[in-house]
Amino acid sequence: MSIKVVFLHGFPLDSSMWREQEEFFKQRCDVFSLDLPGFGDSTKVAPDSIEGFAEDVKSFLDENKIKKVVLCGFSMGGYIALAFYEKYPQFVKALVLVDTRAKDDSDEGKKLRNVAIEEAEKNGTVFFVENMPSRLLSEEGMKNPIILERVRKIIAKQRKESIKNALIAMRDRKDRSFLLNGIEVPTLFICGERDVLTPPQEMKEMSLNVKNSRFEIIKNAAHLSNIENPAQFNALLNIFLESLGG
Ligand code: MLT
Repeated sequence: MSIKVVFLHGFPLDSSMWREQEEFFKQRCDVFSLDLPGFGDSTKVAPDSIEGFAEDVKSFLDENKIKKVVLCGFSMGGYIALAFYEKYPQFVKALVLVDTRAKDDSDEGKKLRNVAIEEAEKNGTVFFVENMPSRLLSEEGMKNPIILERVRKIIAKQRKESIKNALIAMRDRKDRSFLLNGIEVPTLFICGERDVLTPPQEMKEMSLNVKNSRFEIIKNAAHLSNIENPAQFNALLNIFLESLGG
């Protein structure tokens, strides 16, 4: 039986951020790259809690009669993967936590979420298209017109209501650091070497709390490590998936 990998995208993005992973892994395992509710081509309303997003992942598994998956969550997708693992550990074969954190937002972070919520209310995606790429990409990524345009386009496609609800969900999410030393499944931590949003040092410390874990750094990449360096990202993920067996 082949391994089933579910990819969970970040904010304010959609499943197309995983294009290179879908292409590479579909020849090796069953790949499901989800549009979270309210994002991409999803016609659902985005929930305003991380638990709500995790429930949608569970519904997807139930609808497709899937009993065990490797959950690969990027950033907001990582918050969702941890929330899913907290409630449904029996459905998780392994975790891949990409450029993410277990902790909740700081007070300063919550204030910035509120500013972003106001911006989304007033101007839709404009603020995010203008401001997010330089936080998601390295300097080199920003200078690469193909990568920059791709990221801007993905952000521009998302709906204002979904952006607002996801911001509320992230602002109000609980600290899940307590979960880390109880994680029983193999876990791969991946972080772009120049990630300023979820820096490598923080992810490394997170990984040290998880028994059966590996921590890997993606070279020449910031937060969107799978887009900036898909070759290294796929190679590392492939080694991890192979180590899980069938
Ligand atoms: C993401 O990439 O999903 C976001 O940067 C996560 C966040 O804002 O906390």
